[in-house]
Amino acid sequence: MSFNKKTIRDVDWQGKTALVRVDYNVSIKDGKVVDELRLRESLPTLEYLREHGVKRMILMSHLGRPAGQADPAFSLKPTAERLAELMPGHVVAFVDWATGNVANAVEKLPEGGILMLENLRFAPEEEANSAEFAQKIVSETGADVFVQDGFAVLHRKHASTDAMARLLPAVAGLLVEKEAKALDAVMENPERPLMFIVGGAKVEDKKPLIERFLPIADKIAVGGKIAVDGLSVSDPKIYVAEGFVSNAEGAKLDIDEASTAHIIDMMRDAKTIIWNGTMGMAETAEFSTGSRKIAEAMGHLSGANTVIGGGDTAGFVESLMKEDPSLSYTMILTGGGAGLKYLLDESLPGLEVLQNS
Ligand code: 3PG
Repeated sequence: MSFNKKTIRDVDWQGKTALVRVDYNVSIKDGKVVDELRLRESLPTLEYLREHGVKRMILMSHLGRPAGQADPAFSLKPTAERLAELMPGHVVAFVDWATGNVANAVEKLPEGGILMLENLRFAPEEEANSAEFAQKIVSETGADVFVQDGFAVLHRKHASTDAMARLLPAVAGLLVEKEAKALDAVMENPERPLMFIVGGAKVEDKKPLIERFLPIADKIAVGGKIAVDGLSVSDPKIYVAEGFVSNAEGAKLDIDEASTAHIIDMMRDAKTIIWNGTMGMAETAEFSTGSRKIAEAMGHLSGANTVIGGGDTAGFVESLMKEDPSLSYTMILTGGGAGLKYLLDESLPGLEVLQNS
């Protein structure tokens, strides 16, 4: 797959209202955003629009899986509050599209202001990709152009990723472009040696990924549940972790020191490394050592293009970076499931619906 979509750079934004689909499906604790990677990564698009004369920006997202019902635990209000802090000098308002007056909130926005809509999954019509629901949001917001900037939600065919994009000129935001192009670069024209590190708990997701990388990568290191279960594919370029750290019941929950050292050794001459899936149960300190050591080695490699696949791996690496700011990576992807599908060249409805360049 090669990214070939129109982007916000192809639009004259003077006086226009942008309807921007972001993915602010982030962790929220006690009313505060805990993991703000997806918010931070959405800023370049919002800044670009603002600098190019946009009249107003209407932001929409989902949060969690509230099953089509309003549930305060899944409110997006904390993301709007955090966005306001991340964009000092910008007005960021918030409205519940179900109970508030959206048109009125839009009217009240100053030039270049942002209005965040409440979680769209509070309506069953969102996941049902309802054209009527899409039309209602487009009409009430007075949007002129649809911008898809939620890379992580591209694999969902919902009203805010599909139906709404069919009602307006639809282009990609800078985050979608950046992540898609980063993955294109790894798959199509990587600086070699290219190393793929794979782990995680969802074996059924990761096996096809190994098959996909086999003809492309120069070396592949396997940890996580797939290594525990054993891999049927054998190839000289694949190393599967052999030793594990177990809990009291004997469950193998991390790769051991020797396997970790072997994978780190494989990294030394790599010029491109893409890592998807932690080496063990990294959310538990006791079983996070293998993943941490690999993240540290990768974050200190100089002269290599290092890409962290989204989802759990991105969250894990982000938390390590808070403790150790010397760690740095070329790119931390926001898209977990969508990134996997992109890598596997599978259909991404949220991307397909956008205008071709
Ligand atoms: C994600 O975090 O993977 C995306 O936001 C998609 O969320 P979903 O799996 O609930 O559709």
